[in-house]
Amino acid sequence: MPRPLVIDTDPGIDDALAILLALASPEVDLQLVTTVHGNVELPQTTDNALRVLHLAGRSDVPVAAGAAESLVYPQPERAGHVHGSAGLGGVVLPPSPAVVDPRPAVVALAELLVAAEQPVTVAAIGPWTNVALLLATYPQAAERIGRLVLMGGSASRGGNVTAAAEFNVWADPEAAARVLGSTVPTVLVGLDVTVPTVLGEEGIARFAAAGPVGAAAAAILQQYVDHARSSYGATGVVLHDALALTEAIVPGTLGTVRRDVVVDTTRGAGRGQTLVDRRSVSDSPTAVDVAETVDSPAAVEFLVSRLAGLAARVG
Ligand code: BDR
Ligand code: CA
Repeated sequence: MPRPLVIDTDPGIDDALAILLALASPEVDLQLVTTVHGNVELPQTTDNALRVLHLAGRSDVPVAAGAAESLVYPQPERAGHVHGSAGLGGVVLPPSPAVVDPRPAVVALAELLVAAEQPVTVAAIGPWTNVALLLATYPQAAERIGRLVLMGGSASRGGNVTAAAEFNVWADPEAAARVLGSTVPTVLVGLDVTVPTVLGEEGIARFAAAGPVGAAAAAILQQYVDHARSSYGATGVVLHDALALTEAIVPGTLGTVRRDVVVDTTRGAGRGQTLVDRRSVSDSPTAVDVAETVDSPAAVEFLVSRLAGLAARVG
């Protein structure tokens, strides 16, 4: 029986890949997508989510829009230079026939959690504003989350937006502090494991050749590939969000250790840093399972073969 899954997301190139990976995976049943501000503005992330689902023939999956901005301090800076000004690398996917769910994201999520007959996995791969709002406004529903898989933060690699902060945490540090301070069973998939997990051009070519959905995914990725080449001289791309989804789909993909984690919410140079206490294993109820080890070639192969399978199936 597939496990129910919700993806909270800000598509975003790697978010789009992560959604497609979930749709390609029989272990999970994607029941809801909630959107959040982040890589681009909320109306755009919401429209992108609808279009990506439609691309895969799954416009039946509801999309509910969530927070348009961070909880406390406005964070107007987006990531259009990485993801394209419309978030999908300059690719215009066909519009979806579906409309946005009329419910706010937290309401849709709370209702799904309360009605669920088995534990629901929630994968949050944008800023964690919606998750923080759920914890504050529907605590009983939040308690029913079976597993919260978060993409964000960094234990040992510093940041990717500032020297200290990873993008999803930097975009709403107060929300991140609320989420990482909760007792919901949580896995933190940060830069420590995502940065070494690089998808190369050969892998992209494999799913591009498998069918139109794969070709569209490869086209969306092109801007990411170009950005990585011009910024870092890299010949592949780091698919942060897809790795988090892999852990949501196949629990135990990543090696995790229970750690105490706090978020720097000061307004100085450290803002948005995740301070992971790696001196010891924690048994605190608010400790999180921090992903510390990854078999990157296996994770890349998982993504490529799943996307190729989806592309061949959808046609
Ligand atoms: C995270 O930042 C975003 O730009 C990506 O979509 C990913 O969720 C990586 O730091
Ligand atoms: Ca994202």
